[in-house]
Amino acid sequence: MMKPEIVSAPDRLSERKRLNKENIFEDYQEDVSLVSLGKEKHYYIYTYGCQENESDSEKIRGLLESMSFKETFSNDEADLIVMNTCAIRKNAEEKVYGELGRLKQLKRKKPNIITVLCGCMAQEEDAVKRITRTYQNVDIVLGTHNIHDLPHLIKKVSDGKERLIDVLSYEGNIVENVPLVRSSKIKAWVPIMYGCDEFCTYCIVPYTRGKERSRLPENIIKEVEQLVQDGYQEICLLGQNVNAYGKDFTNRKYDFADLLSDLHKTAIARIRFTTSNPKDLDDRQISSLALGGNIMPQLHLPVQSGSNKILKLMNRRYTRESYLELVKKIRQAIPNISLTTDIIVGFPKEDESDFEETLSLVKECGFEGAFTFIFSPREGTPAAKIIDLNITDNVAHERLYRLNEVVNEGYRKGNLRFLDTIQPVLIEGNSKTDESILMGYNPNGKLVNVKGSKDLIGKVVNVKITVAKTWSLDGEAIND
Ligand code: SAH
Ligand code: SF4
Ligand code: F3S
Repeated sequence: MMKPEIVSAPDRLSERKRLNKENIFEDYQEDVSLVSLGKEKHYYIYTYGCQENESDSEKIRGLLESMSFKETFSNDEADLIVMNTCAIRKNAEEKVYGELGRLKQLKRKKPNIITVLCGCMAQEEDAVKRITRTYQNVDIVLGTHNIHDLPHLIKKVSDGKERLIDVLSYEGNIVENVPLVRSSKIKAWVPIMYGCDEFCTYCIVPYTRGKERSRLPENIIKEVEQLVQDGYQEICLLGQNVNAYGKDFTNRKYDFADLLSDLHKTAIARIRFTTSNPKDLDDRQISSLALGGNIMPQLHLPVQSGSNKILKLMNRRYTRESYLELVKKIRQAIPNISLTTDIIVGFPKEDESDFEETLSLVKECGFEGAFTFIFSPREGTPAAKIIDLNITDNVAHERLYRLNEVVNEGYRKGNLRFLDTIQPVLIEGNSKTDESILMGYNPNGKLVNVKGSKDLIGKVVNVKITVAKTWSLDGEAIND
């Protein structure tokens, strides 16, 4: 097997650097000589990880379809396989390695199949070494900063180059107008920024996604206005720390509060966003949130831990007290809001009393949902070097279990408050488990199963909530 050609490989030291150079904006240029390269061919795409990857996959679909590839939902039929990967925790990576192993068989049956590995694992030095050594079936490793180069890399491999690695270890340019095939016709992801400058000590994202870079507001607003024209009802603004939006602009003063109030004036029916960072969510932003109307009363505000000692070790740069104060302010400004969060248990040096502080903070904040995780050491991050033999697998699992008991109670209470009310629900489609039932979300982001006819899909419908369960609500569409 030939050694891969390395255009450039990931390198963690360069990924850490923040050079403070200005953002470079460019417009995607289609190479017209490639438009029929994928004729009669099919692609299959795996998307792991967060909304940012979901959004990148829409670009990848757009790029491939601009080359005439068609999507298939059976990997046996595929001529091209794309794995858009996530590196956030060890189990996210293990899923990818497992699938890559299975795909070796497919490559044996169909030697001409092209396999692309992109996303956050492609930015990881050690992962790329393991992939090039063990998974010879991967033809292209492509980083997160230059996915728009995919058509050219496919061309090179189809021309006979065996394997290629093309990963930039510095922030890429902000490329506008990359073709998109969106996965929904009702709600749309709208990235407003790329990268993360926080360097929470446990987290791989600042390395895999690079420096914080904000898109220009005029481009975001134009995209949203186009979505309205195309019949979209909902947008979700994306960034690893949306509250830092605009801080990297050197020639204008414009931040997330400004963006929210400008988008509030557009005709899009519903605006949501993720993810917020407590340290950067300020009073002006709370005022924009409180505008209401199309800005939905829902906020995902990851706290990670309730103990100041652990927050400090995590480099989160806020305290338990300042977080609680922030929650109080938010609730005063938007009394109806639903708050959700992310929490890590078993962080090194977390003792029983630290963990109990997390439990008490969860109760005090009245979260209506949380993603809860066991700490997973990530190679090259500072937290991976803190040794704590007291946190065994058993201890971590036991804490996760106890935390989830409290969190689930929050889910239940959060749903219960809508029982017997009438909720405007944006109907997205059929329920996954029952074809005769529709599903959608209320303004607070609660999943509602609705009895009603199919022609309600894509519309905001008033629903009488008749049953409140822990994970969902049931209701009936009312004709008015
Ligand atoms: N930018 C967002 C989310 C990033 S990743 C934020 O700051 O909130 C989503 C969640 O994964 C994080 O909030 C954190 O709870 C969790 N996470 C990140 N790295 C982790 C690790 N090494 N081990 C366990 N959980 C982790
Ligand atoms: Fe990771 Fe922290 Fe950035 Fe979120 S804010 S992506 S947890 S470094
Ligand atoms: Fe995973 Fe990368 Fe998102 S590590 S969570 S896909 S930013």
